[in-house]
Amino acid sequence: MELERLQLDLDGPVARVWLNRPETRNAFDGLMVTELRKTLFDLGSLDQVRVVVLGGRGPSFCAGADLQWMKAAAGFTREENLREAQALADLFFTVYNSPKPIVARVQGAALGGGSGLVAASDIPVAALGTQFGFTEVRLGIVPALISPYVIGKIGESAARELFLTGERFEAVRAAEIGLVRAAVPPEDLDAAVEGRVQELLQAGPRAVAEAKALIREVAWKRVEDVQRYTVERISDLRVSPEGQEGMRAFLEKRKPSWVK
Ligand code: COA
Repeated sequence: MELERLQLDLDGPVARVWLNRPETRNAFDGLMVTELRKTLFDLGSLDQVRVVVLGGRGPSFCAGADLQWMKAAAGFTREENLREAQALADLFFTVYNSPKPIVARVQGAALGGGSGLVAASDIPVAALGTQFGFTEVRLGIVPALISPYVIGKIGESAARELFLTGERFEAVRAAEIGLVRAAVPPEDLDAAVEGRVQELLQAGPRAVAEAKALIREVAWKRVEDVQRYTVERISDLRVSPEGQEGMRAFLEKRKPSWVK
């Protein structure tokens, strides 16, 4: 697919996906939503790719939904309006549900849906000074589609404050509430992202995908309700080729086959 709104760099096991509409601070319109969803979906089935880094070209990671595009919904039928909202919901779910670990590289601003992409990703790392915010209420709307991911990361208490005020906050606060995993000086951002990538490359590729699925299945559930699932997962994976190789490598004091 020709990409107009994104740039994709494949670098061995690492795929770097750049939102590439810096003139609007990478605000996403229908085309960007389609391209990003399809790109992440396709990367999910490429064996060669083991980590995805999601970043934004220009001064800001992502200014959220394109407000011209959101405003234009007034001219849609109810059906069209629902369809467009569903496409955007599918994008956040694709990030969250990708079998590949997704590291978000965040600078400048991540507002509204931009903060949603951060929340849906696995390991967001931000530059100090980055502005975050669930600014929707200040625009007369709500952070509806992103709410499951954001509440999952920051919890109800912080969500009540930040969704209701729509206030902007800085990277240090984003790290304190768990929206991002680290806030580092801007000049250290690439090194911090690379550090996360290198750690992820130590893990078995199938095990990473399974660990992601495990978190999705287990979070917020009663232990009794997930115990059967957890018993099955460990039983399946410890006899899988990857599990056997990983344990054998440890016992033989060598690197497993997936570590270069
Ligand atoms: N939708 C559409 N256009 C947007 C946009 C958005 N979400 N965010 C920024 N833009 C446009 C601006 O209108 C401006 O267009 P112009 O050059 O035609 O005037 C251009 O992008 C650059 O924005 P500007 O505000 O001048 O850049 P900045 O670097 O000073 O600030 C932001 C960047 C992201 C902090 C600021 O643009 C902002 O606060 N945007 C609103 C984000 C928001 O509330 N999003 C929630 C959506 S639900």
